[in-house]
Amino acid sequence: MRPILLAEGADLDGFRRAVRTLVADGVAPDQVIWSIGGEAGLFGSASHLSQGERSSNAEGGVRVRGKVCPDGAQPLTRTAPPSRPLPLGEVSPRPLHLPRPVAALIETAVCHRDPERYALLYRLVWRVLHGERELLEIASDPLVHRLTLMAKSVRRDIHKMHAFLRFRQVEGEAERYVAFFEPEHFILEAAAPFFVERFRALDWSILTPIGSAHWDGAALSFGPPATRAEAPETDGFEAGWRGYYESTFNPARVNPELMRAHMPKKYWRNLPETAAVPGLVRSAASRVSSMLEQEPTMPTKRSPEKALEAMRDREIKSLAQLNKLLKASEPLVKGATQAVAGEGPDDAEIVFVGEQPGDQEDLQGRPFVGPAGKLFDRALGDAGLDRRQVYVTNAVKHFKFDQRGKKRIHQKPTAGEVKHYRWWLEKELELIRPKLVVALGGTAVLAMTGKNIPIIRARGPAHFPDGYDGYISVHPSYLLRLPDEDAKALAYRQFVEDLERVRAMAADHPRGRVAA
Ligand code: URA
Repeated sequence: MRPILLAEGADLDGFRRAVRTLVADGVAPDQVIWSIGGEAGLFGSASHLSQGERSSNAEGGVRVRGKVCPDGAQPLTRTAPPSRPLPLGEVSPRPLHLPRPVAALIETAVCHRDPERYALLYRLVWRVLHGERELLEIASDPLVHRLTLMAKSVRRDIHKMHAFLRFRQVEGEAERYVAFFEPEHFILEAAAPFFVERFRALDWSILTPIGSAHWDGAALSFGPPATRAEAPETDGFEAGWRGYYESTFNPARVNPELMRAHMPKKYWRNLPETAAVPGLVRSAASRVSSMLEQEPTMPTKRSPEKALEAMRDREIKSLAQLNKLLKASEPLVKGATQAVAGEGPDDAEIVFVGEQPGDQEDLQGRPFVGPAGKLFDRALGDAGLDRRQVYVTNAVKHFKFDQRGKKRIHQKPTAGEVKHYRWWLEKELELIRPKLVVALGGTAVLAMTGKNIPIIRARGPAHFPDGYDGYISVHPSYLLRLPDEDAKALAYRQFVEDLERVRAMAADHPRGRVAA
C-alpha cells in the first residue's frame, strides 16, 4: 500500500505531485491510502512516509488535523498553505496530459470537503489514463456522477461567497475593509481572485473558519482561520446596502421560500440587507394593495449606482481616498478592466482633463500612457511643462469600447456617461484646488461646461461655470488622427503653443475657484 499525505484544505498542488508520482510508479487506485493533514489513524505518523510520497505542502509539517465530524466529513479547519517548491534533490515527475475537462474537474472537486475527494479523483485519473479517455462523457457512470455533483456543489459555494460576502470598513483605519464568511467547502483560494478584480484598489481581508485572504492593493496572501468576532459588526455603509436592498425589493413578488433558497439563512448574519427582510416581508401584502391603488408610474431604473449613491455622501478627505473609492466602483458600461484614476501631485497647479482611458490606460490603470499620452508628454516637455508636476485625469473614468475580433475599438462616451462621472472630476478639483483646468477636446469641455461646444470656437483661455479658470485645447489623439504629415506638424506646433500659454497663465494665477 502507498500512503499519501496531503495538506488540509484544497491541496491541489500536493495532489498533482502525488498523482504524477503514483502514475509514474504504476500504483493502482486501490493501492493508495490518502490521508489529509497528518492523520495518524490510517497509516501511522507522517514520518513513516518516504520523501517522494509526501506532498510538498504536507512537508511543511504545520498542518494539524482537526476532529472528524459525526457525518464522517472532515471539519473545515484550515486551507492549504501556498505550495512550496520541491526540496533540492527531489525530482518532480513529468506532468500528465489529461483532457481539459478532467483537469478542470480536478481543480474544482479538490475544494470539496469530502475526505474521499482525492481517492475519487485519482480513480478518475487512473481510468482516463487506462483506456477511458472519454470517461467524463458518461454521465451515468457512478464515479463521474459523484464527482460532477461535488464540483457543482463547490461552484455553488463559490458563487454564494461572491454574492453574499460583505466587506465592512474597519473603524479607525482610513480605507481598510474586512468581511467574514463561512464557506461550505475549501474555496477561499478559488474564490478570492474575484474580490481582487472587484476591489483591486482597496485594502481588504476575508476571514473564514478555514483561513483568511488578504489583499493590500498589490498582493494576495493567505493566512490562518479567524472567527466572526474578529470582523467588524457594522460600518457606515450598512445603511447604504440596506437602502439599496429595500429599493430593489418587489413586494408583489415576495416568496419567502424562494428567498431562503437563493439566500440561505446561514449567510444572513453577514448581510446588512437581511436586517430589512422580516419587515419587508411583513409589509409586502399592504404595500401591494397600495401599489394597486396607485396610478401606474414609469419603472425606476435599478443599478449598483444606487448603492454607491449612499457612499458618495461621505466626506472625502484626500485624493488617495477618492481614487480608492473610484477603483472600487462599477463601470457604467460593462467591459472595462478597471477604473483609471487621475495621476499627479495633490497640489498640482494645473489639471489636464482628457476624455476617457484608452486601451493601454485600461490595462495599465493609468491615464495617458498610450499613444496619445506619449504625444501629450512630448508636447508638455516642448512647452516647458513637466508631466510629473501636473495632474492628468479624464472626464470619464472607465474605458468604453467595441470588441472587434481581438481589437478593442474606442467608443466616444455619451453626454449621460460624462454627466455620470462628473462627480469624480468635481471632487478631484475640490481636493487639488488647481490654478488652472485645461480641457483637452470636446468631451472634457462637455464635462467642464455641460455643453457641446466645438473646439474650433472655444479654443483658448476659458472661465468654466463652476468657477475655475483654465484653457480649452484639442485632444492629443486628434493630432494622431490627422492624415498628412504637414497638417500633423502644424497642429502639433499649435498644441505646444497652447500649452506654453497655459504655463504662462499659471505663473501668477491664484489657486482654486475665482469669481468670473
Ligand atoms: N485619451 C484620453 O482622453 N485619456 C487617456 O487617458 C488616454 C487617451
